[in-house]
Amino acid sequence: MYLGIDLGTSSVKVIVMDKKGIIVDSASSKYPLSYPKPLWSEQNPKDWWQGTTDAIKRIMAKNKEIGDQIEGISFSGQMHGLVLLDEKGDVLRPSILWNDGRTQKQCDYLNDVIGRDKLSEYTGNIALSGFTAPKVMWVKENEPEIFEKIAHILLPKDYIRYCLTGDYKIDASDAAGTLFFDVKNKSWSKEMIDILSIQTEWLPEVYDCYEVTGTVKSDVAKDLGISCAAKVIGGGGDQAVGAVGTGTVASGVVSVALGTSGVVFASVDEYKVDKENRLHSFNHANGKFTQMGVMLSAAYSLQWWTEEVNKDIQSENPYQVLREEAAKVPAGSEGLLFLPYLTGERTPHADVNATGVFIGLKPSHTRGHMTRAVMEGVGYGLRDSLEILKDMQIPIHEMRITGGGIRNELWVEILASIFNEELNIVEASEGPAYGAGILAAVGCGLFDTVEEACKTLVNVTKTVKPCEADAEKYDKYYQVFRKGYDQLKGIYKELSEI
Ligand code: XUL
Repeated sequence: MYLGIDLGTSSVKVIVMDKKGIIVDSASSKYPLSYPKPLWSEQNPKDWWQGTTDAIKRIMAKNKEIGDQIEGISFSGQMHGLVLLDEKGDVLRPSILWNDGRTQKQCDYLNDVIGRDKLSEYTGNIALSGFTAPKVMWVKENEPEIFEKIAHILLPKDYIRYCLTGDYKIDASDAAGTLFFDVKNKSWSKEMIDILSIQTEWLPEVYDCYEVTGTVKSDVAKDLGISCAAKVIGGGGDQAVGAVGTGTVASGVVSVALGTSGVVFASVDEYKVDKENRLHSFNHANGKFTQMGVMLSAAYSLQWWTEEVNKDIQSENPYQVLREEAAKVPAGSEGLLFLPYLTGERTPHADVNATGVFIGLKPSHTRGHMTRAVMEGVGYGLRDSLEILKDMQIPIHEMRITGGGIRNELWVEILASIFNEELNIVEASEGPAYGAGILAAVGCGLFDTVEEACKTLVNVTKTVKPCEADAEKYDKYYQVFRKGYDQLKGIYKELSEI
């Protein structure tokens, strides 16, 4: 049996997977997220550990025979969060998370003074406020007394590894999101270490996501009720491990995650960087590479539209009411466009000031038009990342789609037509936790490679085809949509300055 631990932002989910890939049991625990100041987003690493141990213990208490059979444990983790430990391994301050926006000044310094070209050459990426490097600079500038005590820098799930094993170790896919990792050569970047005044010995040893990094300490194993022979396997960042869970591990396979945020994830065999760094260039969990675009408000756009703007709908299922209205509206919402930048945007604009906008409203438009326009706007925004992939000559032979938003079938049909691609849906509903289970199985030798494991365990259950007539219409609207941001950029800035 294998344990897959998905350390998310609102909760941790633990699954137990058997050798056939069947999920035998699962449990999850929530933990708080704090916003101590505007733009700040923090969590206490000890809450992660508490939540993880609670979830594991609950599973083991229910299934007494499983503990001794756990051969391997692996992870998926929220990326980019800065965890600082002192020389005793104690947490120095709350972790600054991936969705924290306090580091604009540090990002401007890195991008404009050090320069985007240099950053791209050293790491394959440029500075974004979510990444780890600008957070290290922020701590140095604003909390020098903490910076002085740093003995170890980790990412969120590697804190869990540390608690389990006592080891300071990391995998390449998560290290890639720090902006002090040389993605191409899979090693810490000497240049970035100098720029950030980091000491090399603070950084964890790097492994591939499917490699064994250690074993569980015997006192911890006893407390959790699992075998102390359980191996701990690298694991990785949630997007790469989620992609393992959907079988997006071969060149030419691209997955779209329609979650709160939206992600377009391409598995690529060779290292590549876009000339303008519009996509993240990271390491993949199969030891190869990825190109990834992140849209900040994907399913969140429809959630906002449903639960905030339309919260007065008198129905047990307001999502269904809105979906039925939207289904009656023709593709293209009769000329209504929505720019889905409610919480700013990462790909392709990297602009915290961007906001949501309806363009083209007419008296003939109804709530159904507006709902459909929200769903279509998310589709156009995701297509932006697909267009960059095409621009980079990255092959797209097959597309898969996952995430909570796919329960809305109309939305998946709309996306298939906007992308003009068939969208495959896979069986696994556990997402990144399942990917972590697969990595544990590979690390323990059940499969030779991540690719072989995915071929055996991940099956496509449904294919949604594009509608030709809609695709043609969407193509025209998309050409207008892509001009929207550029036209409004100045207004976004002015608005943010009032
Ligand atoms: C990836 C990213 C998110 C976080 C939180 O770049 O920021 O996927 O890892 O889920």
